[in-house]
Amino acid sequence: MYICFEGIDGCGKSTLARAIFEQYQQRGVSVILTKEPGSTPLGQQVRSMVQYADDIDIRAEFLLYAADRAHHYTHVIAPALHAGTTIVSDRSFVSSIAYQGYGRGLDIALITEINTWVMHRVVPDVFVYLDIDPALAYQRIHARAETVTRFEQEKTSFFSRVIQGYDDIFKQYSQVIRLDACKTQEELLQECIEALYEYEKR
Ligand code: TYD
Repeated sequence: MYICFEGIDGCGKSTLARAIFEQYQQRGVSVILTKEPGSTPLGQQVRSMVQYADDIDIRAEFLLYAADRAHHYTHVIAPALHAGTTIVSDRSFVSSIAYQGYGRGLDIALITEINTWVMHRVVPDVFVYLDIDPALAYQRIHARAETVTRFEQEKTSFFSRVIQGYDDIFKQYSQVIRLDACKTQEELLQECIEALYEYEKR
């Protein structure tokens, strides 16, 4: 299975993705944990360029995420699919539609076409979406003692557009597990495991 975790910054998807990855490992499943952007050496360079660049052109921003995605597909996703390894991914092409399309206002059809091209038409088997109020996500980000990225400095209106994006995109897919990010980590993990189990049986 190719499982992808999505949601706005501060929703807790990275923690949940890691917990699910560890859960599969404990079950003896062959599994990898990966993320977009930044899972390969080239991707790490792209990640630092795009996350902290000053005044980046929004098309350049999208193309950098797409470049990371193309490289990630070839070096991480395709080999894992070929080997029958389960993939737990923190973000996917859907983030570009939500952030660069709905958030920044870039042409969604163009983003989708480039995403399809770089992913060789591969789509995750399941999306796990963590639903959160942008104000709560903002509080969580600023409670962490880390340097905030350009996205994390965005206003809640930006994140409201991104959330609208996720809502629209996920209407097009039937394979979405939607979780309430306000729940505790234990509750989220339990719900996610149970929902994924249903997908495994299909
Ligand atoms: P994320 O992994 O959530 O950040 P971190 O691990 O540093 O907490 O994602 C990195 C940022 O990149 C996040 O703000 C969303 C953004 N992003 C896009 O805008 N478009 C994309 O296509 C992707 C993959 C990420």
